[in-house]
Amino acid sequence: MQQWDKIKEEGLAIIRHADNLSRIEQVRIDLLGKKGQIQDLMKQMKDLDNHQKPLFGKMVNELKQLFEEEISIKKNELEETKILTDLKKDQIDISLDGDDALVAQLHPLTIVQKEVESIFMNMGYQIVEGPEVELDLYNFERANIPMNHPARDMQDTFYIDLQWLLRTHTTAIQTRVLETKANNLPIKVICPGKTYRRDDDDATHSHQFTQMEGLVVGEGINLADLKGTLEMMVKKLFGESRTIRLRPSYFQFTEPSMEVDVSCFNCNGLGCHICKKTGWIEILGAGMVHPKVLEMAGIDFRKYSGFAFGMGVERVAMLKYGIDDIRNFYLNDMRFLSNFDRFE
Ligand code: DAH
Repeated sequence: MQQWDKIKEEGLAIIRHADNLSRIEQVRIDLLGKKGQIQDLMKQMKDLDNHQKPLFGKMVNELKQLFEEEISIKKNELEETKILTDLKKDQIDISLDGDDALVAQLHPLTIVQKEVESIFMNMGYQIVEGPEVELDLYNFERANIPMNHPARDMQDTFYIDLQWLLRTHTTAIQTRVLETKANNLPIKVICPGKTYRRDDDDATHSHQFTQMEGLVVGEGINLADLKGTLEMMVKKLFGESRTIRLRPSYFQFTEPSMEVDVSCFNCNGLGCHICKKTGWIEILGAGMVHPKVLEMAGIDFRKYSGFAFGMGVERVAMLKYGIDDIRNFYLNDMRFLSNFDRFE
């Protein structure tokens, strides 16, 4: 019995002293494995008298069970400790300064474009785009711009060949829409896009710029519709207290044609450096679609009429954000680009 207790106490002691997972596994093999202590005891059974065998067997089994339980408890303990020490090792110091991540923002031109688009989408307009490499047909011919017009000069337009060019205005999308929707009236579209002209770049000119074309065609569309629509847009873009004024002008694709000014939001019409002391700022060209333009697209100009307008997005963005050089939009300078709120 004394020897028995010794085996038990020694076994429990080495279990208790195991201080890592590989050690406890080794202890398990030593005590419970095929060549372990419990097996050794089992082997001794054959040397015993028959009447001693059942008691001995019972005691070996109890010892085995005890070791199994104690090893399992110890193993769980060690696993838990290991997880905790591993976690401690991997701990992140959240008080350390992180690296600044650059959060993407929208380009100011995109912000203005999206703002205008949402104003018109709320009035039921569709957004339509067109190709930047355009046919002379849609850019000039269908816009009623004759062969001898200066805009068609090699000095003003990027020609690719005699037929193809980089579109000089989004009016090219207008003439395409008129053609594709000629038998599907009414039309209510906003057409944003990049446009190109052979200008020398300076503070107010860029060989690449952005326009937004508006076009509405249907029965009984008149100048009052145009004026009301533009007034609404200007108030949403520049503030409720803005008003507009129409000045007679000339475009080949509209009749009558006009230039549209917005009352100066800097001086409220009193006259300042932004409005060049006039109280008004020019923001877009507009007019009633020329009957010839409708006719060339296959639309009956006796039955239908329409209005159109074309707006420079850079100009609106410059006015809205007080930017004084158009080249800023195309320099990709993060110090400039990070100044604009994200469009919600
Ligand atoms: N296409 C003209 C330009 O680039 C702008 C314009 C004026 C567009 C009057 C129109 C319009 O649709 O009706 O200067």
